Amino acid sequence: MASPEYVIAAEDLRRTFKSFVPGSPEKVAVDGISFKVGRGEIYGILGPNGAGKTTTIKILSTLLSPTSGKAYVLGADVDDEKAVRALRRRINMVSGGEKGLYYRLSGRQNLEFFSDLHGIPKREQKRRVSGLLETVGLSEAADVKVENYSRGMKQRIHIARALINDPEILFLDEPTIGLDPEMSREVRGLIRRLSDGGTTIILTTHYMFEAEELCDEMIIISRGRVVGRGTVSEIKEAISDVSCIRVVTEEDPSAAVEALAAEGLDASSTALLNGRFAVRFATRGDDGLGRYERMFSPFRVKSIGIEEPTLEEAYLSLVGGS
Ligand SMILES: Nc1ncnc2c1ncn2[C@@H]1O[C@H](COP(=O)(O)OP(=O)(O)O)[C@@H](O)[C@H]1O
Ligand SMILES: [Mg+2]
Repeated sequence: MASPEYVIAAEDLRRTFKSFVPGSPEKVAVDGISFKVGRGEIYGILGPNGAGKTTTIKILSTLLSPTSGKAYVLGADVDDEKAVRALRRRINMVSGGEKGLYYRLSGRQNLEFFSDLHGIPKREQKRRVSGLLETVGLSEAADVKVENYSRGMKQRIHIARALINDPEILFLDEPTIGLDPEMSREVRGLIRRLSDGGTTIILTTHYMFEAEELCDEMIIISRGRVVGRGTVSEIKEAISDVSCIRVVTEEDPSAAVEALAAEGLDASSTALLNGRFAVRFATRGDDGLGRYERMFSPFRVKSIGIEEPTLEEAYLSLVGGS
């Protein structure tokens, strides 16, 4: 069997920034991050705001150099200017925000413009642009000005723009941020199709369901450091000190839920269709079920048990504890 081919290897990456405030210490955005990505994977970089996700993805997509550490992308050292020039033809990036498109041009005209920038021959351009519009589901809106696109359509034309050079690796920085659920589902579907077509995808997100749905593997970062890594199930297993407890009661357990909240445990109760109530919460440590049985007994406990944590619960435990 062939050994896995890594298309990205980041080794102890660090990046600091001068503070906005003169005289105050440097800001450490990325504080020693290492990971490897196999060809064809969808790899997630997860973490709360300010964790260092954008900085990491900018280093890997050659927009920013690391202060120290090494990153190899498709074998090219991101510190080697000559190698980087060749590398840029083989990768592309979609960053958040509204920049990077000409709103007064149509989707098709934008793609034609960017294909000129990439030096794609005119005779090939027409076919390539139509193909990309098809891929992102914008064939019908191809000749509408981008300023009239919905946010979801804008995000899809951004992705089409980044596919113009047929990149082997596509970097996506929070690709569904600010999109409504339906539009973000469309974008996730597109990411899945690109991956099925063989593109390696590096994706930052702070939506756990997105990572759970898309990512083969991921790192969770907090304050510039890796606090968790692996597949979804490996990350869940890694937080074995967290138990998630589910209690079903016959009477409204709001008072117990409030008592849990007072201890800093995030619980909420849901009314079930059969007139019962379900409560789920994560606890740290192994304080056992007994204590919670007593806490909920005034509300007539129907069942109580320990369940596997969700990725969200695992994430909160990892990020909160760092
Ligand atoms: N150009 C910059 N100058 C100073 N500080 C920065 C700069 N870019 C990012 N930072 C800081 O570095 C940290 C990580 O930022 P970023 O990588 O954008 O995080 P994320 O994308 O996870 O929200 C933040 O505290 C941010 O304020
Ligand atoms: Mg960011």
